Amino acid sequence: MTIKRVGIVGSGIMGAGIAEVSAKAGCEVVLRSRKQESADAMVAGLERSLAKQVEKGRLEDAERNAVLGRVKAVTELGELSECDLVLESIVEDLPTKLELFAELDGACGDDAILATNTSTLSVAALAGATKRPEKVCGIHFFNPAPVMTVVEVVRADQSSDATIAAARGFAEACGKDVVDVRDQAGFIVNALLFPYLNNAVKLLASGAATRDDIDTAMKGGCNFPMGPLELLDLVGLDTSLSIIEALHAAFGDANYEPAPMLAELVAAGKLGRKSGAGFYDYAKK
Ligand SMILES: NC(=O)c1ccc[n+]([C@@H]2O[C@H](COP(=O)([O-])OP(=O)(O)OC[C@H]3O[C@@H](n4cnc5c(N)ncnc54)[C@H](O)[C@@H]3O)[C@@H](O)[C@H]2O)c1
Repeated sequence: MTIKRVGIVGSGIMGAGIAEVSAKAGCEVVLRSRKQESADAMVAGLERSLAKQVEKGRLEDAERNAVLGRVKAVTELGELSECDLVLESIVEDLPTKLELFAELDGACGDDAILATNTSTLSVAALAGATKRPEKVCGIHFFNPAPVMTVVEVVRADQSSDATIAAARGFAEACGKDVVDVRDQAGFIVNALLFPYLNNAVKLLASGAATRDDIDTAMKGGCNFPMGPLELLDLVGLDTSLSIIEALHAAFGDANYEPAPMLAELVAAGKLGRKSGAGFYDYAKK
């Protein structure tokens, strides 16, 4: 099955990025947000992103217009009925995603693949919320989706070979290198990355080093492009906390016990870049 029309549900950081790569790959894209303002804001963000690429000479004007012409912003789930693939990218919360998958099952065509961009949650559980468990898998893009080169394709016990093949084909058409992984918490990248990020917060809280020195040390000492605290701000501290909690629940490893400072920042509404403040301040001057 070749994916020609993609539905994207969720208008946050990841939904916007995945919409861009999908439309640039030549797919018709239906962006669904609960509010028309958020769906329209996503299209406006896409316009800005494409305009920058035109300015920098990385995209032709005609191609920009063609990409935008393939994108439609909607609020009703019923508008996803003609999609070959619907990729969910809403808040990292299992009950909320389970409810959405049950709704998508009713709203989408019988042959449609339902995929999740979850960072850690059980793809099998989401498959179980539908009457088409063999047509459910994970397609995990990284942040920012237009830049990061890898996609994890996650196979739940119920996923069929045809579903995995179609998901791989879609991610490859988006220009990504695809890695396959079994459905277990954190898949490959987050299972390895998040204990490190969580321990960076614990180190900061212990007073052993400052924020800036922790980030500088990991960039200069390990040749990482970003320090751990900068990276947490990019991911979003609420999403990061959910990921660490899910890993802790799955593995019970002390390394995954969420750093209290992370929960405190989230409770204070400091979610990282998307809220204007996290470990760093992003308030517009
Ligand atoms: N941020 C990252 O670095 C990153 C990377 C890869 C995957 N992910 C995953 O992508 C998904 C989305 O993350 P994000 O960073 O875009 O989050 P975000 O906070 O930027 O956006 C979340 C979106 O979910 C919507 N939402 C919240 N509750 C909802 C509900 N009840 N029904 C429908 N929509 C609802 C919000 O309105 C918002 O548009 C999560 O599963 C996350 O784990 C995130």
